[in-house]
Amino acid sequence: MDTLLLRGDNPEDIERAGDILRRGGLVAIPTETVYGLAANALDGGAVKRVYEAKGRPSDNPLIVHIAHLSQLAPLVQEVPESAGKLADAFWPGPLTMILPKSPRIPREVSGGLSTVAVRFPAHPVAQAVIRAAGMPLAAPSANLSGKPSPTSFAHVKEDLLGRVDALLDGGDCGVGVESTVITLAEGTPRVLRPGGITLSALRRVLGRVEVDPAVLHGLSEKEAPRSPGMKYKHYSPSAEVVLVDASPEKYAGYVNEKGDGYALCFDEDVVSVPSVSYGGRYCGEEQAHRLFWALHRLDELGAKKAYAHMPSKRGVGLAVYNRLIRAAGFQVVRPEKSLVVGLTGPSGAGKSTVGALLSQAGCRVLDCDALTRSPQVYDEDCIRAIQNAFGADTASNGVLDRALLGSRAFSSPEAKAKLEAIVFPRIVARVREFLDMAQREGERCVVLDAPTLFEAGLDVVCGRILTVTAPRELRLSRIRRRDRLTKQAALRRISAQHPEEYYLSRADHVVENGGEGSLEDALAPILLDWKEALKEGV
Ligand code: TXA
Ligand code: MG
Repeated sequence: MDTLLLRGDNPEDIERAGDILRRGGLVAIPTETVYGLAANALDGGAVKRVYEAKGRPSDNPLIVHIAHLSQLAPLVQEVPESAGKLADAFWPGPLTMILPKSPRIPREVSGGLSTVAVRFPAHPVAQAVIRAAGMPLAAPSANLSGKPSPTSFAHVKEDLLGRVDALLDGGDCGVGVESTVITLAEGTPRVLRPGGITLSALRRVLGRVEVDPAVLHGLSEKEAPRSPGMKYKHYSPSAEVVLVDASPEKYAGYVNEKGDGYALCFDEDVVSVPSVSYGGRYCGEEQAHRLFWALHRLDELGAKKAYAHMPSKRGVGLAVYNRLIRAAGFQVVRPEKSLVVGLTGPSGAGKSTVGALLSQAGCRVLDCDALTRSPQVYDEDCIRAIQNAFGADTASNGVLDRALLGSRAFSSPEAKAKLEAIVFPRIVARVREFLDMAQREGERCVVLDAPTLFEAGLDVVCGRILTVTAPRELRLSRIRRRDRLTKQAALRRISAQHPEEYYLSRADHVVENGGEGSLEDALAPILLDWKEALKEGV
C-alpha cells in the first residue's frame, strides 16, 4: 500500500488527513503523549483496519479522541460529576477516562466491553485533524503491537510505512509515555494505566483514587484484567530487558560484572559496558520523555540484552516503571543484600523522629549529621587541610575554632564549597566503613539520616530515598526550639537551605510530618516496598 507522507504544519495536509479519515482510511497522527494511529471512531469497518495494520488483538479496545468537550456526551451513557471535574482540571491533556458507552460506539472500538475510553489530546495537530475529520477518532499508539510506542516520526515510519494510508509528521512527542487511563465506570475511580497525569494530581481533584494492582505487578494466568491492554507483553524492544532494582553503585557493579548486555541507565550512572541513558536519575519527566526513544535506540544498536536501572515510582515515575516492567516481561533482579536508604529533607522537618521509628521497625540508622561534628571526621589530617585552606589560626593544638572557621567558610559559596571538598569525602569514607560493618553483621536495611545526602554524594549508595517534609511554620518552630534560635536566625537558616522541592524531586518516598494521619501509617507502605526490594533474585 502507498503511504502518503503529510506535514502537521501544512493546513492542506491537515485537510487531506481529514478527507482520508472521513472515507474510512487510517492516518498516524502526533499527540502530546505518543503518536496515534487514527480511524473514524464511529465506523466499525475503519476501526477494524486499525487492528489489522497494528497486528493488535481485537479484544484490546481503543481510545476515542475528541477535540471539543461537547463531543463527549454523545459517546457515553452519561457524564458523571467526576468526569466533569477531571475534564476541567486535565483536558485537553494526557488523561483518558473510561465511562459506560453509548450505543453509537461500535463493538470494534470497545473490544466488546460495555465501556469506552475517551481522551481530549492537547496537541494542536491532533486537535486540528479531529476537527478536519469532523468526528471523534479512535487511535491506539501508532506502533506494531508489542513494540515500544512511537514518540518520533521516524519511529512511526519504521513501523507503519506501507501499512496505512498516511503518516502525519508533527515532530517529537512532549510527554513521551501514553495517557493516564482512569476508570469512572465502577465505584471508586481507579487508575488502570499510569501516565502523564500523576496519581497525586488525580487525588487532588477527586479525593480517593485507587491504583489497579496490575499497574505494579504482572497478572497471574487466573486473574481477569480490568483493562485488556494489561495482559499483553508491551513496549518490548528486540533486546531482552531485565530491570535491576539497586543503588547506582550496586547497579554499575552488577552490569559490569555481567558484561553481556547494554546498560539502560540514568545520565549519572557510570558503567563500563555500552549504555543508553533514559534520563537523569531524579528527572521523572525526562525519563518519560526519553524511555521509548531509548528502547528504540537499543534496537538500532542491535542490543540482545539490556539491564534497566529501576526508576523511582513517584509521580510520573510510576508510568515509567509501569512501561519498563512490561518491557522487561516482569523480570526484576535485586542484587542488594542489604538495602541502603537515604533519609533526608529540609531542616526541622523531623528526620530524626522518622529515623527513630525506622529503627524501631528493625532498620539500622546512622546519624550522618552527627558525623559532621565528630572527631572521626575531623581528625589530624582533616584539621591540617582546613588550616591550609582557611588559615593556620582556624585551629590550635589540634582543636578547631569552629566560630572562626564558620565565619570564613560560610562567607561565600566558593568558601563553603572549599570546606565541603575537605569534609564530605571524609564523611563518605566513614559512612562506607559503617556500611561494610553493617553488611558483615547481616543488617538488612540501613538508613542514612543525612541532611546533605546529595551534596556529599551519598545518594550513590542508596537504593531508596525517603524525604521527610513538614509545613514551613512547623519547621520554623522546631528549629527555634531545638537550636534555641531567634525567629530571624531560624528563618535565615531555612532560606539558606534548598527549597523543599529539591528534596521532593529526588525522593522515592515522601512522608509529610505534621500532616493528617500518623507517621506509622505513612511508613507502612514504604516499609513494604523495601521488603520487596530485598526479595531474592529474579
Ligand atoms: O496517550 C495515549 O493514550 C495514546 C495516544 C495515541 O492517545 N493512545 C494509546 O492507546 O496509548 P493504546 O490503544 O495503545 O492504549 C489504550 C489502553 C489499552 O491498554 C486498552 O486496553 C485500554 O487503554 N482501554 C481502552 N478502552 C478501554 C476500556 N473500555 N476499558 C478498559 N481499558 C480500556
Ligand atoms: Mg499502545
